[in-house]
Amino acid sequence: MTEEILSTQQYDVFRHFLAEACGIVLGENKHYLVTSRLNRLTKEFSFPTISAMLDTLALGTNKQLKERIIDAMTTNETSWFRDTYPYEIMRHELLPHFAKKKPSALRIWSAACSTGQEAYSISMTIAEYQMANPGALSTFVEIVGTDISPTVLKIAREAVYDEINIIRGLSEERRNRYLVKENEKWKMRDAIKAPARFAELNLLNSYSLLGKFDIIFCRNVLIYFSTESKTDILNRMAQILNPGGFLILGGSESPTGYSPAYEMVRYKQGVIYRLKDTW
Ligand SMILES: C[S@@+](CC[C@H](N)C(=O)[O-])C[C@H]1O[C@@H](n2cnc3c(N)ncnc32)[C@H](O)[C@@H]1O
Repeated sequence: MTEEILSTQQYDVFRHFLAEACGIVLGENKHYLVTSRLNRLTKEFSFPTISAMLDTLALGTNKQLKERIIDAMTTNETSWFRDTYPYEIMRHELLPHFAKKKPSALRIWSAACSTGQEAYSISMTIAEYQMANPGALSTFVEIVGTDISPTVLKIAREAVYDEINIIRGLSEERRNRYLVKENEKWKMRDAIKAPARFAELNLLNSYSLLGKFDIIFCRNVLIYFSTESKTDILNRMAQILNPGGFLILGGSESPTGYSPAYEMVRYKQGVIYRLKDTW
């Protein structure tokens, strides 16, 4: 089958679909990339042409097709202890702060968690803090990882990683302490897995079932969204942060210009955000 080129009109319709479905805004320059990914899916789903596949997509009746298309358009790129500084700030600033505050529970949300490395890096950081400071943080800890993609969530829940995924950001020492090797793969130990649970959630939809959080990690996903979606997401995250709660964004992301609910907190390791007292 020869590769079919998406017409400009089809590309515009598709961009609109993607923005509505998951907030991701495709630039003009992604036409070729999108065409090649859609050609791949056309074959996978045995449609005769891209147009036939897009017609089915427009009907809105094929949930699996919609999920696969969103999956193919999003980047699931992630790594252990990504950028280091968020975990250093947790270890040296936030966890001692919550240890003093003694909340009845410490709840952390890894929004757009991809394959789970972020949630488990948080869990490892807490385990290391508790080991170094026995009894200091004797509260119930829950880490909730959410993502729009059922494919990445399956991997996050299983918490079994191959060598290629393991080497990205995880030291040998941590790998040997927190995972066990089974059939050439690395399986997360229960102590790190237990505080984490995972659920499917589109960040454009309601957060009302999630409960309240003390820390939200929302990293490397807002960059793909429109100004309206960023504003909406950041304002709704503020509504489910406990008073004085923290927001940790990706290195190139900031709430400035989108939501007035947060103030910048500058630590020597890097910058994060806190819900304003007046909010
Ligand atoms: C680049 S990864 C970031 C993973 C992790 N937060 C990190 O920084 O390493 C972006 C993730 O956002 C997810 N995503 C994209 N659009 C989303 C949406 N509307 N709602 C929830 N998750 C979304 C993708 O499926 C992907 O797993």
